[in-house]
Amino acid sequence: MSGDRDRARGQPKGIELDDAGSSEPLMEAASGLPDMSRPFTVLGIETSCDDTAVAIVRSDGTILGEAIAKQDDIHEEWGGVVPGLARDAHAAALASVIDEAVAAAGMDSVADVDAIGVTVGPGLEICLRVGCDAAVAEAQRHQKPFVRVHHLEAHCLLARQAALSSGEEPVDFPFLCLLVSGGHCQLLLCRGVGRFEVIGSTLDDALGEAYDKVARLLGLGVGGGGGPALEALALEGRPGAVTFPVPMARRKDAHFSFAGLKTAVRMRVQAMEDDDSDANVTRADIAAAFQDAAVSHLEQRLAFALERCDDILGWTPPSEPGGLEESDEEQRSVAADKCAPAEADAANEEKSESATAPEPAPRYLVVSGGVAANQVVRSRIGDLCASRGVRMVTPPPRLCTDNGVMVAWAAIERLRAGCSHCAEGTEVRARWPLGRALRLETAGGKDRGPAVDLASAAATQEGEGVADS
Ligand code: KG4
Ligand code: ZN
Repeated sequence: MSGDRDRARGQPKGIELDDAGSSEPLMEAASGLPDMSRPFTVLGIETSCDDTAVAIVRSDGTILGEAIAKQDDIHEEWGGVVPGLARDAHAAALASVIDEAVAAAGMDSVADVDAIGVTVGPGLEICLRVGCDAAVAEAQRHQKPFVRVHHLEAHCLLARQAALSSGEEPVDFPFLCLLVSGGHCQLLLCRGVGRFEVIGSTLDDALGEAYDKVARLLGLGVGGGGGPALEALALEGRPGAVTFPVPMARRKDAHFSFAGLKTAVRMRVQAMEDDDSDANVTRADIAAAFQDAAVSHLEQRLAFALERCDDILGWTPPSEPGGLEESDEEQRSVAADKCAPAEADAANEEKSESATAPEPAPRYLVVSGGVAANQVVRSRIGDLCASRGVRMVTPPPRLCTDNGVMVAWAAIERLRAGCSHCAEGTEVRARWPLGRALRLETAGGKDRGPAVDLASAAATQEGEGVADS
């Protein structure tokens, strides 16, 4: 939820320059593995912000039981998530939410699941601790394999469960992921479990945060986020009655910026309130114009990133020269060897096949995070993908916002890769970047002109739109 949510996620403002961070590396099975000869079940717990969510998911993607306690009413009057209130609400609700999920799965107790996963970051530290402590206690009490889950990795990987459970073609690695939530706006290359590269980040606000702030400016209730209310209001707006400039339209990179757009909205709302403008303009017109500019911005960044992915991921059709640069290739096989031998083999097979294969590899764009529930976002990005031969995959809208299924599924992915953690002494991580930064401007081996420096990008972007104030 707006800046509060950004802080809640422990994410610093501006672009992530740290390229040393990575999601949890795949490690040994420190607390054992479930019997993999048959489908196994995982209980997932999510308490990183303002949703107490639990689910039990089977390794074939079937959701056996889910429960969630939302805190919208608690935070509504404060206009944002209040950490202490959120923690207390998690603590009050968690046991019964676990019971509800267990009962929905037709199980008698947590003892009936095969493993336990829990979000340990990034997020509000005192909230994460509630879920983490409960998960550790359950894992120890029932002697179950335990998995620490990265919240953003869970948002990204959920598309693989969604494809599996709906009987669609599986979403194989690598894929491009647009993660648009209340605390994050990132374009990621997902090369495998625990293997992410950040190719675009927001220079200021996350998209969900911008939706929340604009919803407040328009006097809408924000509860657990203003996005749904703003989307509904925008439906009543007249297309073109108001327009806002698309942020960074001239910039050739995959970064995002929403602060200037938000300021433009604020000024328009102010003008309307001062009766300084066209009396016909409504709040709905402004909502529609904001959404249109924001989604156009997503489309432009994605168009750039998809083009680059053709080079970086070997997505280039066979008639065109391309493929991985040596350095990238080396890095990919080193990372694969280190993290997951099976994946390394698969990567090498894929590489040798790509030299002779007549068909290009499938190209996937996963769209995830709370804003991916938005129908305009889904349909316009879907159209963009269709026009470029890219398959868009999004979880069903209710699973785009925070939920227990994504946590259980991320744990399943790690267990399948042979990884579990020791429950004892588990720490939560308020800040936890996902993956290292990759400069798209120079990646892929083609001369793309001068690389954009990420720090100066943040400094100069104000000149290209309406400056935030
Ligand atoms: O993924 P999420 O539940 O929590 C975080 O990880 O941050 O995302 C919540 C964000 C909020 O900012 C909320 O306003 C936004 O997602 N959101 C939407 C919609 N549904 C949720 N934004 C636009 N349209 C929606 N339908
Ligand atoms: Zn989230």
